[in-house]
Amino acid sequence: MTYEVRPLGPGDQQLAWDLGSLTFGYHERPMPEGWLSDSPGRRTLGVFDPAGRLVAKAVDREQGQWFGGRIVPASGVAGVATAAELRGRGLGRLVLTRLLQDARGRGAVISTLFDTTPGPYRALGWEEVGALVYYRVPTRVLAEIRPDPTTVLRPATEADLPAVDAIYREVARTGTAMMDRAGPAFVTADHDGCTVAVDGTGTIVGYATWDRGPGYDASGRLTVDDLIGLTPEATRTLLAMLGGWASVAPTVVIRLGAADPVWALLARGDATPESTQPWMLRVVDAPAAVAARGWPRHLTGEVDLELTDEVCPWHQGRHRLVLAGGTGRLEPGGAGTVRLTPRGLAAWYAGAAIPQQLRRSGFLSGGTADTDELLRTATAGPAPTLHDYF
Ligand SMILES: CC(C)(COP(=O)(O)OP(=O)(O)OC[C@H]1O[C@@H](n2cnc3c(N)ncnc32)[C@H](O)[C@@H]1OP(=O)(O)O)[C@@H](O)C(=O)NCCC(=O)NCCS
Repeated sequence: MTYEVRPLGPGDQQLAWDLGSLTFGYHERPMPEGWLSDSPGRRTLGVFDPAGRLVAKAVDREQGQWFGGRIVPASGVAGVATAAELRGRGLGRLVLTRLLQDARGRGAVISTLFDTTPGPYRALGWEEVGALVYYRVPTRVLAEIRPDPTTVLRPATEADLPAVDAIYREVARTGTAMMDRAGPAFVTADHDGCTVAVDGTGTIVGYATWDRGPGYDASGRLTVDDLIGLTPEATRTLLAMLGGWASVAPTVVIRLGAADPVWALLARGDATPESTQPWMLRVVDAPAAVAARGWPRHLTGEVDLELTDEVCPWHQGRHRLVLAGGTGRLEPGGAGTVRLTPRGLAAWYAGAAIPQQLRRSGFLSGGTADTDELLRTATAGPAPTLHDYF
């Protein structure tokens, strides 16, 4: 059968709602008046059968993510669905392959997604590199933390929001893969509370965004999306505030990265994962992705790479990775000393695995102890962390 792959048009919105809502289980709701699958920074690609039926779709979100102190243009993939009767027949591959081509055409150099199952994405070169985890903590544990006496907490006002955004950005910039929340597809969530921490000089040095769940019995809970302190005093005082809910919300559910400073005040044994949402990365255009991110400023060196990639054939072949002074480039050519599969390239770029691990997984071959060391150091950094589900 010949399928047409094309962006959705105005007349396709009901089809997109029907396929998406049935797949993801909100089909009891009618399509909201004026609903559109696309919005600024979001483009939906559809696969249509000869009768004009939408049989598969995927959304490309225009977003940026921080790597090595620079924002890397990314395609966030969402809303991937194939009609139930046609799964396993290549339509997912068709729509995602075309999505990667189009994303590259608009300047995306990597792609990330939250996977319900890794299989279909691994087949196409994405690899799991991290997970967004909410931890459940008994609130009484937080009630033992003493606030800093010089730090004042108050609800954020509209005028504080730029300072709150700047705090997130300062932390995201030093992370690996954290979302650029100024990107076009980013939608700021509403919260019951946004609390700012102000130091003795009147500067906002931390904030927490939180939602109060229903009830004040054993089921009462507080969900905290961000708790970011730029100083230990801010982190401590914000955590102590959460502890103040112990009598009416015995559980705090908080989103934390693996190396969050909050762990310095919390026993790991008191925190149980409440939900774990793995996410994956793919390199869409290797030379552009290498040029886009930041690299260690004190690292200078070269490694000859050979990339295999049938899904993104434009970057297949031999390249020399050249790193110097915090910048990197891939030059065509070289001896192809280290061979990387797409999943290996993804995990290495994200700093999610070192060359020795990639070799044992079958994602990297060739090379020497020296090339291993250079590649390891090049992408060593904080564990890949995303605080925003999409
Ligand atoms: C996930 C989904 C979109 C895949 O679409 P599809 O049309 O079935 O995928 P394809 O037939 O093109 O398969 C693509 C590749 O993934 C592999 N694959 C597909 N489903 C798989 C699974 N459940 N487990 C492991 N591998 C799988 C296929 O073997 C194929 O690899 P190959 O081409 O190398 O053989 C489809 O199964 C679906 O709609 N699932 C329900 C919704 C969902 O989970 N969406 C994903 C949200 S992140």
